[in-house]
Amino acid sequence: MEKYLINPNERIATINKNIYGHFSEHLGRCIYEGLYVGEDSPIPNVKGMRSDVVNALKEIKIPVLRWPGGCFADEYHWKDGIGPRESRKKMINTHWGGVLEDNSFGTHEFMELCEQLGCDAYICGNVGSGSVQEMSEWVEYMTLDGVSPMADLRKKNGREKPWRVKFFGVGNESWGCGGHMTPEYYADEYRRYQTFVRIYDKENPVYKIACGPNAADYNWTEVLMKKAARYMSGLSLHYYTIPTGNWKHKGKATVFSDEEYYNTIKNAYKMEELVQRHSEIMNRYDPQKRVSLVVDEWGTWYDVEEGTNPRFLYQQNAVRDALVAGLTLNIFNKHSDRVRMANIAQTVNVLQSIALTDGENTVLTPTYYVFKMYSDHQENTLLGSYITTRDLSDDGALPQLIESASAKEDGTIISTVVNTSLTDAADIHCQIADFAVKGVTAEILTGDPHDHNDFENKNVVGIREFKDLELTADGFKVCVPPCSVVKFIIT
Ligand code: AHR
Repeated sequence: MEKYLINPNERIATINKNIYGHFSEHLGRCIYEGLYVGEDSPIPNVKGMRSDVVNALKEIKIPVLRWPGGCFADEYHWKDGIGPRESRKKMINTHWGGVLEDNSFGTHEFMELCEQLGCDAYICGNVGSGSVQEMSEWVEYMTLDGVSPMADLRKKNGREKPWRVKFFGVGNESWGCGGHMTPEYYADEYRRYQTFVRIYDKENPVYKIACGPNAADYNWTEVLMKKAARYMSGLSLHYYTIPTGNWKHKGKATVFSDEEYYNTIKNAYKMEELVQRHSEIMNRYDPQKRVSLVVDEWGTWYDVEEGTNPRFLYQQNAVRDALVAGLTLNIFNKHSDRVRMANIAQTVNVLQSIALTDGENTVLTPTYYVFKMYSDHQENTLLGSYITTRDLSDDGALPQLIESASAKEDGTIISTVVNTSLTDAADIHCQIADFAVKGVTAEILTGDPHDHNDFENKNVVGIREFKDLELTADGFKVCVPPCSVVKFIIT
């Protein structure tokens, strides 16, 4: 019997809702078809935004959406995407398949999408091929209330009042597709660019996010924190889970061996070490934890589905992905004193999506349902918790179980537990300190790791009620099935 201890007296931090954020790039069919179909489309839409996807995202309480990239952000020139659509410049999306980008989805459309979703905007500016002036003018265009060349241009384009841009990223992957810079060079560039990301609304200052490290590049974090910490509110981190660890043959989304499954889970668990070690560096320069670690790209990355454009990064999504999502979100929750935003890549039709579309058809993925279950953690207080667990590897890097627990304002405890074993259920005794348990309800997502939803069978994987638990004087006992994500609501 494993022991699961929750301590409601140990109130660690607020679980920022933005940990449950998303990322959308001009890549493959994410923006066009996935989120935006245009006003004239037969697919039901409001001002061009496809209603089924918007409603699905609202259902999981999407808190923040990052746009326009990704690598695309460093070749995006925002002025090409404003004004009458028919006269917008067309360009080739060189990074993602060399397809035509007609700029019909630009700043006004993105802000409209955020308004429909009721979420905050996280815009990533162009450092790689842009200029300080271009970035500065974009911020002026979006956020200045009053008279100025850019505010006047915005008004001419139909938007009288400024928008609220809560988060602004200064470049993307500046160590790679964003310009192949050294950390020293980027730190200086960051300092210069961010100076001109002006705060026009003193009540709502823009939260400036610097480009952070690629996975385990600890030197990048060290240099950025040393040279530029005082000029940033957040530092990003990118890490993708690749089953084989080999970018050339990553493995498939729904066809994989047990060994590949466990490698995937093990690689996903690496997020724990990354967050831990980057946080340790940040702690040295910022012991007050003012600067957030923003994991603004994460998720599984497989070989694309057969017959699809290799640069469109379209992949299916199975129960294995649900486990990756569940365990990663538990890691973020447990580090919510430093991790205050995360954005899974990428919303629709690209990488670890929450929805897939085919014409007017939409299917919600297992990952979607994990976000739905976990949305209950948003803005709760992270509680101290600990679970005993076997390790499924020989090097301690693959715990069978991982948990997180939080308290709502009314005292209700939300706990999410992931069982990564393919074969073994876990008998767990959950004990809650100083808490008279009145009742526990639970939901589960479970199945064969290959199970997935597709356009013919949309409901193979979903959330089911879970009743296999027994109240005890100090908590409850439960048998968590293999390959599952479970949420407990404890009152
Ligand atoms: O999410 C796909 C790509 O992965 C992004 O464009 C880039 O930032 C990262 O390398």
